[in-house]
Amino acid sequence: MKFHIKTLFPQNNEAYMSESIMKKAEEKGNIEYKTWNIRDYSESKHKKVDDYPYGGGAGMVMTPQPIVSCYNAVVDDLDASLKQEKKPKVVYLTPKGKVFNNDMAISLAKEESLILLCGHYEGVDQRVIDLIVDEEISIGDYVLTGGELPALILIDSISRHVKGVLGHEESLEEESFTNGLLEYPHYTRPEVFMEKEVPKVLLSGHHKNIESWRKLESIKLTMKLRPDLFDYEALSKEDKKLLKKHNIIDK
Ligand code: ADE
Repeated sequence: MKFHIKTLFPQNNEAYMSESIMKKAEEKGNIEYKTWNIRDYSESKHKKVDDYPYGGGAGMVMTPQPIVSCYNAVVDDLDASLKQEKKPKVVYLTPKGKVFNNDMAISLAKEESLILLCGHYEGVDQRVIDLIVDEEISIGDYVLTGGELPALILIDSISRHVKGVLGHEESLEEESFTNGLLEYPHYTRPEVFMEKEVPKVLLSGHHKNIESWRKLESIKLTMKLRPDLFDYEALSKEDKKLLKKHNIIDK
């Protein structure tokens, strides 16, 4: 999977991408990323990339020419075979976009390459969106100063679903959101910490009981913290029985 980040602030990405799992993923060849400085593609004398909005109003708007020229350069840079078959999807990071979630990360992880366009100021000229953008994505209902952090968030969460990036594939199956539930609580050594004990069942070595306990905690946590996610009807027969047995829901 290859990420192309188009930005006015190319330095922002390096620090994050050169540490930890992202770095290892790149070293192993599971992901690649390339940062493109939109300003380099400006054809204006002073490498201008923004201008006042037509119709007036506050702030500046990113002009279309450098962004579209930069896009053409990305496409030209791609493998000739890939270029002929399928152009990479262009995602524009904007607070106006569809709010990002785990399902979107899983689906985008199937792409061969992605172009992530980071906006700044009041955003990009609408014609950029009309001409080259396939999806507009927001990372949440708040406004940031630019699309760089959102782009990194997408790269991180998409990469986790690219084969080989995470050491243990099973950790993806049990984590939050995968089955519509939040993940159960974790404990490690010591057995007692500030008089708080690790739940006995986790020390029992009884795998079935541990599995039931974890499922029950997952469900209880989702009902408490994210009632908007909780869908009783989507639970399996066994899970519904488990809830009944523990008097959580009596249906
Ligand atoms: N750019 C500024 N705010 C944003 C947000 N919430 N999501 C994506 N891109 C953004």
